Amino acid sequence: MKIATKISEVRAQVREWKMQGLTVGLVPTMGYLHEGHASLVRKSVSMCDRTVASVFVNPTQFGPNEDLDTYPRDFDHDCALLEKEGCDMVFHPDPSEMYPEGFCTYVENLSDMPKTLCGKTRPIHFRGVCTVVSKLFHIVTPDKAFFGQKDAQQLAIVRRMVADLSFGIEIVGCPIVREEDGLAKSSRNTYLSPEERKAALVLSKAVFLGQKMIREGQKDADAIVAAQRELIMKEPLARIDYVSAVDGSTLEPVKEVKKDVLFAMAVYIGKTRLIDNFSVEA
Ligand code: PAF
Repeated sequence: MKIATKISEVRAQVREWKMQGLTVGLVPTMGYLHEGHASLVRKSVSMCDRTVASVFVNPTQFGPNEDLDTYPRDFDHDCALLEKEGCDMVFHPDPSEMYPEGFCTYVENLSDMPKTLCGKTRPIHFRGVCTVVSKLFHIVTPDKAFFGQKDAQQLAIVRRMVADLSFGIEIVGCPIVREEDGLAKSSRNTYLSPEERKAALVLSKAVFLGQKMIREGQKDADAIVAAQRELIMKEPLARIDYVSAVDGSTLEPVKEVKKDVLFAMAVYIGKTRLIDNFSVEA
């Protein structure tokens, strides 16, 4: 696996692949990779001739009081995982490579999409995500790009951006990967103490409760959200940021359970903010 730190190295390699008629998949990540990321790489390897992963903790998507400095990093471990999954190149730039001095151009969705859900407490987050993902798309020029459904709001906003700005890249959403006991895999799970790790199960329990209510015929989205909130509030270490039912594409609030409705939540467990969700399938 090639390790590239410069934009020019990525461009040269991708140009060579394209001259050979090969297709390219991109898996954008912030590193500290786990089984969820591995599943994205596997999907890309299965669908594309060559796979590029980026490992870059993107400063522009962190607010001033967020965990940019403490965000976990382990590039050697990341490389081992990527290589094992068949990734062909990892792009691991310095912040100065991505944000040269004088940088002042951002990509921003001006609808309510980035203001709802996580955007309520993370007002600049999705501007940073759209900006860095646009840059990665321009640098790698992939045919397809792979994103986890765990970040459902990010996925919806990236899809909107790709349509609005005619990127011509297919966005492939991949299912949430969970620990055996249900907790959605996340690099931030490492912040949890053993006691908090147990308490964090309340998120997946709320997801499973919502899915069960739908299987049993519940059509009222508010009733499901209320039951999920009630369950989460029983956990003393948990503090709800939001629990919401929205349209999976527009992120507008919905009342009725139907296909593609997204039930999403963010919950603080101690100081760690975790997210989880599910989408209604049929
Ligand atoms: O999902 C992530 O890890 C990040 O938001 C992304 C897409 C790599 C952009 O920095």
